[in-house]
Amino acid sequence: MAMPRTLIAGNWKMNGLIPDLSEIKTIADAANSASAEAVICPPAILIERSSSVASGTTLRIGGQDCHPASSGAHTGDVSAEMLAAVGATYVILGHSERRSDHGETSAMVAAKAVAAYRAGLTAIICVGETEQERVCGTTLSVVEAQLAASLPDAANASNTAIAYEPIWAIGTGQVPTDQEIAEVHAAIRAVLTTKLREGAKEMRLLYGGSVKPSNARSIFAIPGVDGALVGGASLKASDFISILSAAPLRET
Ligand code: 13P
Repeated sequence: MAMPRTLIAGNWKMNGLIPDLSEIKTIADAANSASAEAVICPPAILIERSSSVASGTTLRIGGQDCHPASSGAHTGDVSAEMLAAVGATYVILGHSERRSDHGETSAMVAAKAVAAYRAGLTAIICVGETEQERVCGTTLSVVEAQLAASLPDAANASNTAIAYEPIWAIGTGQVPTDQEIAEVHAAIRAVLTTKLREGAKEMRLLYGGSVKPSNARSIFAIPGVDGALVGGASLKASDFISILSAAPLRET
């Protein structure tokens, strides 16, 4: 069966309590008729309940991080196997907030991605430049280096998607120009092709950073953009559903 190519993932970050599962229920009810694949990544404690709410629909549930090991003495961490056991099928890795709040390096992100594959999860690997790097003109080299070091050799189009998230665009309402997004996505595609060859051909490249119902349609029209990683606008079902419905129908 043809699968929707466009992927719209919502990252709830450290937001959401049990009453907010009603938003996931509303999104799940809308997901079946969407022309994109929809994923919501709630905080770890809500994954099991979210999976139940989404069960029987096409909405997928994901984690926001995982530990490289499957179990062990790692206080406070959650393994990829644990995420899978409670119904997650995706996991966001290397988000800039994890890289800055927890000192995650690209090598750690690659180890986490290997753990995700081991547990059968699809990894959404995040990369992106700071405002300073954008201003200095080093965006492409920064993103290329981050990606090359964060991507395991076993990455392919079915176990991995890449999210380009310029740090200065996250939660700020600022969005790069269409041309800037297209340029970074083309550079990401080139790194994927060099590193993974054929395996990279169909890998989905998402844009993230202040994606809203008002700008989603134009972002999806940018060459090389296969979907979005949405923060704030994924917390309200109505906003997330309007972003979903702005997605073009593309199948793989
Ligand atoms: P916002 O959509 O709130 O800018 O967040 C983007 C993001 O960090 C998604 O991972």
